[in-house]
Amino acid sequence: PRVAVVFGGRSSEHAISCVTAGSVLAAIDRDVYDVVPIGIATDGRWVLEAGDPERLRITGADRLPSVDGDRATIALVPEASTTDLVVTEPSQPPQTLGEVDVVFPLLHGPWGEDGTIQGMFEMAGVRYVGAGVLASAVSMDKAYMKIVLAAAGLPVLPSTTVTARQWEQDEVGCRERADELGYPLFAKPTRGGSSIGISKVHDASELAAAIDEALRYDPKVLLEAYAADGREIECGVLQALDGTPETSLPAELRVGGDHEFYDFEAKYLPDQQTEIDIPADLPEEVTARIRELSVQAFEAVGCEGLARVDFFVLPDGRLVINEINTMPGFTPTSMYPQMWAASGVDYPALVDRLIRLALA
Ligand code: DAL
Ligand code: MG
Repeated sequence: PRVAVVFGGRSSEHAISCVTAGSVLAAIDRDVYDVVPIGIATDGRWVLEAGDPERLRITGADRLPSVDGDRATIALVPEASTTDLVVTEPSQPPQTLGEVDVVFPLLHGPWGEDGTIQGMFEMAGVRYVGAGVLASAVSMDKAYMKIVLAAAGLPVLPSTTVTARQWEQDEVGCRERADELGYPLFAKPTRGGSSIGISKVHDASELAAAIDEALRYDPKVLLEAYAADGREIECGVLQALDGTPETSLPAELRVGGDHEFYDFEAKYLPDQQTEIDIPADLPEEVTARIRELSVQAFEAVGCEGLARVDFFVLPDGRLVINEINTMPGFTPTSMYPQMWAASGVDYPALVDRLIRLALA
């Protein structure tokens, strides 16, 4: 089958998507799949990428990879029942790349993980890996995700949202809502990922700076209660070929050094003191409950294919769901593929299963 691997994109997680793609492109079985690497440049142009895994790596804080925007532009041309990729080079007549059987959108964040590109694939009638339009959109927006999870009876932390307009016109009211949550709290761009734009707000004096920072990425900010001394646990969900959602062993991560939380650096940069325990050292019944809640969250949102569900285990033993990610990172330091490897599904098998699910 012909697989278009799409990566990069317009979101703030462009570089992480490139690293994710680098790992997947290195692992995908070329004897089975004919791979077409497609990069979406930060300005939104689609290009036929080389997809060289060596170039799609993070080598330092200011050495983040990006899509090579100088390459030939391509267009997805939906026809009645086929989807052709057409290469358009300036000054040359368009050249068709032929039909694609399935698209693997390895995109994180808005315009990729939020249902927008999924809607485009639906319109074009092309199969794709992962969640559909609604599940992607709900899971991308941390405020709506919580509404849906809470409505399904699943435990989430208290939160409130502040829009750019509310902050400008009613700062006092916004501050009152923050006070109700109590400090410290977290301020997050509602639609984002990889901890970009997130701040821990220790007291009211830090609120304005944190909201302004989050507003750089999204006109809506989530203020969320802090899970004091919560242990950070993640769990992978992957559908079996018959559709049954299966779960990985949960893992725990502990950030070290001077990171107050699992921020961008602790997640991706080399030489961090982030420690990962797979499986997480938890009582058997807590592990079982995490796996159960992961499946419930997956189904509450209506996910397909895969998801990573992130939890806090509070000191009193209660579990809360922090969030669900419909296209979790597949980078060398990412938890999702590591949890599955420890659960008996190695990286190439994981990639293969995801593509097969989309083709099924
Ligand atoms: N948003 C990042 C890629 C993750 O959830 O792994
Ligand atoms: Mg996320």
